[in-house]
Amino acid sequence: MAEFHEISPNASAPEKLLNWVDNRFPLSKLFKEHMSEYYAPKNFNIWYMFGSLSLLVLVIQILTGIFLTMHYKPDAALAFGSVEYIMRDVPWGWLIRYMHSTGASAFFVMVYLHMYRGLIYGSFRKPRELVWIFGCAIFLALMAEAFMGYLLPWGQMSYWGAQVIVNMFSAIPFIGPDLALWIRGDFVVGDATLNRFFSFHVIAVPLVLLGLVVAHIIALHEVGSNNPDGIEIKANKDAKGIPLDGIPFHPYYTVHDIFAVCVFLFVFSAIIFFAPEFGGNFLEFNNFIPADPLKGPAHIAPVWYFTPFYSMLRAVTAEFMYFLDGVVVLAAVMAIVKGKMPMIFKAAIGSAAVGLVLMLVNIDPKFWGVVSMGGGVVIMFFLPWLDNSPVKSIRYRPDWHKYLYAVFVVNFLILAYLGMQPPSPLGGRVSQVGTVLYFGFYLLMPWWSRLGQFKPVPDRVNFKAH
Ligand code: HEM
Repeated sequence: MAEFHEISPNASAPEKLLNWVDNRFPLSKLFKEHMSEYYAPKNFNIWYMFGSLSLLVLVIQILTGIFLTMHYKPDAALAFGSVEYIMRDVPWGWLIRYMHSTGASAFFVMVYLHMYRGLIYGSFRKPRELVWIFGCAIFLALMAEAFMGYLLPWGQMSYWGAQVIVNMFSAIPFIGPDLALWIRGDFVVGDATLNRFFSFHVIAVPLVLLGLVVAHIIALHEVGSNNPDGIEIKANKDAKGIPLDGIPFHPYYTVHDIFAVCVFLFVFSAIIFFAPEFGGNFLEFNNFIPADPLKGPAHIAPVWYFTPFYSMLRAVTAEFMYFLDGVVVLAAVMAIVKGKMPMIFKAAIGSAAVGLVLMLVNIDPKFWGVVSMGGGVVIMFFLPWLDNSPVKSIRYRPDWHKYLYAVFVVNFLILAYLGMQPPSPLGGRVSQVGTVLYFGFYLLMPWWSRLGQFKPVPDRVNFKAH
């Protein structure tokens, strides 16, 4: 047990209260460890604001979600009407609902930017692998959360979107059809599905999300933040053990983050008040029509944040499978020609060969489409072990690495766009090329990330007082 700390009888009442609490709960200690004595690199830039902003959106979603749950009815006969009731009759209900629906999209905007920052500055590299892995798990949980939340208003897109996604599970060999039935709790998406999605959306997944976010930040504070130069500030400390390039998170970065919060809330409010549907991208027009299990909409597309992965699903056709088989054979030939290679390469080739066998056993493009879509997310978990570059930050990499990252981003945006469009022959072809580029970027990273002329990394971070 920690030493009981006596305080002067002349101390002020708040000081006495804090001392009383500190003797029973490590409040000041926690504040010091994670805020006033957490030394963050002094060269953070705008990219470092999206972590705090993601946290802000998480809080907004939980608070608005609590109020929506007070008036929402998780019943197939009542759900649509209860959302309309919230919009029209509940005082300020429209604001709470628009904050929540806009918040879902804002969450993904913030998280995508946050992940991109990690990618360009090598924040996923040693010793931050777990920070990254917890992040990827958060991203998966967030996708599940958004998907299940979208069923709740019980509109046409809610209903048919869920139908399409749950049906994908039935493409899994052997267990697929039973699995899809088990997930739905019925032969079609119905009341049972709505009830369980509600339960997952309001309590199960948020609990997981919160736990993961706490783990994400504990892991980050254990190893310390990376920075735009990708330099470990802990390598240069003063006599007191404080990093020379570190500044206390509070007040220096809390002030920055408050500014970011203001800008964010400004834009967020503008969308809520002037364009809450955001041209059908945040709330799809078809979702203002109640779910009709007998008549599906002409074009079913997921919300924008899922569409890059949806494109990867649609890209996989029987023809594309033959192309993939060819790639696997080529990789195996390369493995034979170039026997000396790192373990990760051998493992990749080994699993590709297993994949080929599986493909030959079961050439069902629908199933492999699902694998491609899931793989697009799962592959991110492996990033810390795919990147072999001798430097972390993009700043000290060969210039062409920057162009490659640019191609990756543009390609991801094109996949996102195509995923929103109805299927077309040209769009299909482009999404196949995009899917190959997407996976090629990751799978070939152990090779390309080592190539080129790297720039010398300075000992200390780049910082100009402003
Ligand atoms: C609810 C979602 C998330 C929240 C609330 C969150 C929160 C945070 C916060 C507050 C920080 C420290 C501030 C900063 O560096 O920006 C951080 C750092 C970080 N996050 Fe997240 N995060 C989330 C999702 C993710 C995801 C999806 C990934 C990646 C897949 C990720 C990867 C990282 C990495 C690598 C760092 C360390 C960055 C560095 O030191 O350069 N995070 N996160």
